Amino acid sequence: VRAWQLAGGFGLERLAPVELPEHTPAAGEALVRLSAISLNYRDLLMVRGAYDPRQKLPLVPCSDGVGEVVAVAPEVTRVAPGDRVCPIFAQRWLCGEPTREKLRSTLGGPLDGTLREAVSLPAEGLVKVPDYLSDVEAATLPCAAVTAWSALKAAAVGAGDTVLVLGTGGVALFALQLARLLGARVIVTSSSDAKLELARELGAAEGINYRQLPEWGRQVRDRTAGRGVDLVVEVGGADTLPQSLAAVRFGGTVALVGVLTGSQAPLSLPSVFMRQVRLQGVLVGHRESFEELLRALQQNQLRPVVDRVFPFAEAPQAFQRLASGEHFGKVAISG
Ligand SMILES: NC(=O)c1ccc[n+]([C@@H]2O[C@H](COP(=O)([O-])OP(=O)(O)OC[C@H]3O[C@@H](n4cnc5c(N)ncnc54)[C@H](OP(=O)(O)O)[C@@H]3O)[C@@H](O)[C@H]2O)c1
Repeated sequence: VRAWQLAGGFGLERLAPVELPEHTPAAGEALVRLSAISLNYRDLLMVRGAYDPRQKLPLVPCSDGVGEVVAVAPEVTRVAPGDRVCPIFAQRWLCGEPTREKLRSTLGGPLDGTLREAVSLPAEGLVKVPDYLSDVEAATLPCAAVTAWSALKAAAVGAGDTVLVLGTGGVALFALQLARLLGARVIVTSSSDAKLELARELGAAEGINYRQLPEWGRQVRDRTAGRGVDLVVEVGGADTLPQSLAAVRFGGTVALVGVLTGSQAPLSLPSVFMRQVRLQGVLVGHRESFEELLRALQQNQLRPVVDRVFPFAEAPQAFQRLASGEHFGKVAISG
């Protein structure tokens, strides 16, 4: 099967097309012919060697995808040939609390990932996806959408709440759409007025350009009548966290999801405990959570936002699109 692999070292220029032997499903596994793949920021960091410099090579990157089950090991009943499925991000995290062991099973590092035409995976690590979604739409879900869902669920977001979403990347737009679906009001920040306009079309009530207004925390509070937001979906890290703490309400939650601007932040700790703010780390989520999300998506026929789709042969260009920061929503690969 055709695949993209990092072999001689890290760097996008080292991502090379290779032919790998087709898997046959081992005990408990299903062979999935992948029809679409989506990229996450993590995949870019992984390829650059910045996510885990000790990651063993060769590595097939990427964790997201969708495809048809074409063969199963004899005892497998969870899925059958013909089913359309997505792999879950952490293959052994099915429910409950995370453990080191469960989280060592993530695709696209440390395990080989989805940037290949076919892959054999444990049937327990697959979920069936609703028919109404296109292949590309379904491929956007396993990492970014589950992460956004976990953040919203951690704060029990519902009608009457306000959610602050940072930027307009994959996780952020799912957080926007899903917060609206749960009945909450959404404020979005972005570097681009044009993207803020698109975010309003998706249901955001307010937009703030963080380039024009770097101290946006107070502005967010003003736009909630001084109360602050119930939840911040924090993808920025070092540079944005002080502003997020200024924006969140007393007793509110900051879901720590990403570190786009850096991973070391000098924080005003009293602003956390004196206001009883909850800092909640989020690492995607488990299979049960993904399945709950799929029910919510299907009931509401919610469509993921796809930025651009690149052919399989142009995978490096897809990574470049993600690296450019020009995208709005998910970058995908198909065909
Ligand atoms: N913990 C987890 O489970 C988990 C899961 C998924 C992702 N992540 C992390 O979450 C982050 C986002 O991932 P992604 O895949 O959604 O990335 P992405 O699609 O590449 O989104 C990046 C977007 O973030 C926005 N951004 C960049 N700097 C910003 C800043 N200073 N303030 C506000 N927004 C900023 C930009 O939006 P504008 O163009 O609108 O300015 C940019 O387009 C990454 O750090 C990733 O590693 C973590």
